[in-house]
Amino acid sequence: MPDLKIIPLTKEIGAEVRGVDLSKALGETVFPTLYQAWLDHQVLLFRDQSLTDPQMIAFSQRFGNLDLAPIPGHGRAFVEGLLEMFVISNVIEDGHNIGSLGDGECLWHTDMAWTPKPAKASCLFALEVPEAQGDTGFLNMYAAYETLPQDLRAQIEGRTIKHDTQYTLDGLDRSGGPPLTEAKASGSFDVAAIPGVSHPIVRTHPETGRKALYIGRRQNTYVNGLPVSESEALLDALWAHADERGRRTLHHRWRVGDLMIWDNRCVMHRRDAFSPDVRRVMHRTQIQSDLAPV
Ligand code: OGA
Ligand code: MN
Repeated sequence: MPDLKIIPLTKEIGAEVRGVDLSKALGETVFPTLYQAWLDHQVLLFRDQSLTDPQMIAFSQRFGNLDLAPIPGHGRAFVEGLLEMFVISNVIEDGHNIGSLGDGECLWHTDMAWTPKPAKASCLFALEVPEAQGDTGFLNMYAAYETLPQDLRAQIEGRTIKHDTQYTLDGLDRSGGPPLTEAKASGSFDVAAIPGVSHPIVRTHPETGRKALYIGRRQNTYVNGLPVSESEALLDALWAHADERGRRTLHHRWRVGDLMIWDNRCVMHRRDAFSPDVRRVMHRTQIQSDLAPV
């Protein structure tokens, strides 16, 4: 494969792969090289790709089985006949949003951390992007763990975080109950008591064997076994550390034809808000967890 090049994007995370056309079946030697580069750099970027949805699905499936996209409120799949295809977009057509996540800022998070078997990887392909807006950041959570001050490392040793299953990031109750703002206003909200799924704060990557900090998202997380005030203080300290690193990490400015795939086992990501007057349309696939069934 004379043309394949792997070019690191920053010292800590991300690599651009050149010389590959993802619309074609990848040779048996090419894919293992890409996969190893992905494990080494955690996020891969492929530019100038021209991909149909089935081609994107075929490429994503090399990383594992795919999750099905949630069915939007109007009851039809995002993409007719392709249940694996998610759409991330702010565009509204016929009164319906054609995708998820709107135009707001998405704070640092790990996809699906609130589920028992969180997705292994997520893949985004840029079909329409506004100029110089809606950048996506990627944070190396091995490095976040390795650079933690000793006292914080000691405090999280052997502990788990409960990730909220009740509320979405925009504070809606997943089972249709009152929103988070109302629950909080009622004075009876208890982060320790809401339903959730727990995972170790220090996660060992099943393929690299490296340890990564695994904190999901800030909203409604709780360190099991601690009084709420101590859990909040510990999470604030971990998030201050992650946020500080996040200011200096890879923030990708999208071009049409960019495809990125990231490893949710060792990466957090975020997105800048962008103007409601511009269109942003990304197609997305999600690779299922490789954890044993629970
Ligand atoms: C996602 C996500 C960010 C973006 O697809 O999981 O967080 O840049 N997307 O759209
Ligand atoms: Mn996400």
